[in-house]
Amino acid sequence: MNYYLFAGPTMTDVAEAYTTLTGTTPLPQKWTLGYQQSRFSYASEKVVRDLAAKMRALNIPCDAIHLDIDYMDGFRVFTADPERFPQMKGMIADLKQQGIKVVTIIDPGVKVDKQYAIYEDGLAKHAFATNPDGTPYVNTVWPGKAVYPDFGNPAVRTWWGQNQQFLTDLGVAGVWNDMNEPAGFDGPIPDDTVFSDNGQPSTALAMHNVFGQNMAHATYDGLKKLTGKRPFVISRAVYAGAQRYTTVWTGDNRSTWAHLRLALPQLCSLGLSGIPFAGTDIGGFTSDTTAELMTRWLEAALFSPLLRNHSTARSRLQEPWAFGEPTLSIYRKFVELRYHLLDLLYDLFALQPSLPIMRPLVLHYQDDARVQTLNDEYLVGESLLVAPVVEQGATQRLVYLPTGDWIDFWTGKTVAGGQSIVVDAPLDHLPLFVKAGSLLPWRPLTQSVDVATETTLTFRCYGKAGVYTHYQDDGEDLAYQNGAYNLYEVRFDGDQASVELTRQGYPHPYRKITVETAGQDHVFYYVPEARAYRE
Ligand code: NOJ
Repeated sequence: MNYYLFAGPTMTDVAEAYTTLTGTTPLPQKWTLGYQQSRFSYASEKVVRDLAAKMRALNIPCDAIHLDIDYMDGFRVFTADPERFPQMKGMIADLKQQGIKVVTIIDPGVKVDKQYAIYEDGLAKHAFATNPDGTPYVNTVWPGKAVYPDFGNPAVRTWWGQNQQFLTDLGVAGVWNDMNEPAGFDGPIPDDTVFSDNGQPSTALAMHNVFGQNMAHATYDGLKKLTGKRPFVISRAVYAGAQRYTTVWTGDNRSTWAHLRLALPQLCSLGLSGIPFAGTDIGGFTSDTTAELMTRWLEAALFSPLLRNHSTARSRLQEPWAFGEPTLSIYRKFVELRYHLLDLLYDLFALQPSLPIMRPLVLHYQDDARVQTLNDEYLVGESLLVAPVVEQGATQRLVYLPTGDWIDFWTGKTVAGGQSIVVDAPLDHLPLFVKAGSLLPWRPLTQSVDVATETTLTFRCYGKAGVYTHYQDDGEDLAYQNGAYNLYEVRFDGDQASVELTRQGYPHPYRKITVETAGQDHVFYYVPEARAYRE
């Protein structure tokens, strides 16, 4: 056992030192911060097309639909069911026209089936874990009898990475790795099952904890090579350092208030553990959610980077419209708020890669005893404080504001920190407070993230004076690593405002930038000859 000690003195120092050791989250594609809709399962092209059409008809911003295991042919990974998804490529292309991407699930268990190319190919390549006698180790998962790739072997990771081509050729935009603890319905994999560890023979006992991570690594490398884009991978099982390859969701929660409350410390703890790109199944996965729980869950998780509503088969439907009004309108209002503020998350990923996005208050106020065990509020970056209602039936809550002045996001009223205040929070209200001296980037509302159309941006100012750095790039590929990005420094002081392009490496700066100070709107236009903004 190796122990690593990180000297502070601040918690942010520790978080930064930890990611120096384990790595940081690479910049994600921008659309992955949009709203995503999932279900176990949307099981035919018609269901998926109808779902996308309804999102658009009801004006619920949405960037992705997830296909759970039923899109596959008999749960064989890297196949599609020829009857239910006969034109999957065409369907994905049509959805793309509407700004909606498709993310597909992939499990590690490969069906034992002599007629199945992936199984036969894997056997020929000795790609599967074996019993001590050298025969492939078999357990039972969704497809029935299945074998497990030996992801500790770099050649197996490469093989698995290449297999993603089945999905990328269809136009799939992200891959969701599930069941990768790995799960087996016959029970855990015996400790002496033979796996390898980067070429050296090893065992299930030694490799168990990194199995999911190695699977995500294989997926990440494969997608990167095949698409040239920033890979979008979601994984259920991870280990220290997983952030280099994958995002995470918190697995099968229940539609209960206790699990809603649990989601906040779970997501904040993942962030402190170096994994900021995380999410929870919004609404809850198993059992039937309710209109109230669904609404409060969306509000509470609104700034989790992975914003996905997901639910299990046979539970009641929980798409945004499943409860009628007023749930639908409240749902829309909050998803719209997420889209307006989406650049705040993207800026944090780009400019503060070693710190969480969702932060427990203690990260920035570690000497304040009142926040050391506070689990029902969080900060987005340093500037936005979110205090959701997570108690059934509650229409008010106590909000603790740490030291400094805070501005109620909805009313603009300034409240002194260092105290708890009672806030009215009926079902359609999410208490939000902005730290005085902050600016928030505010995008025009769109139904999905489309960087090519981003020609204007607004900054809202809070308090007396402040400065904000904003990051811009094409939101998709790796050109930013060679400098293809812009940085903007936006300042306000009372009623004065300025915008400075401190770096220009991305050829499409905003045409117009508005800075909203308390007294007026300052409008700046880009002047190409000067490569600068003029009011
Ligand atoms: C378990 C996963 O945690 C869940 O999200 C998924 O819907 C089911 N497997 C079916 O694939």
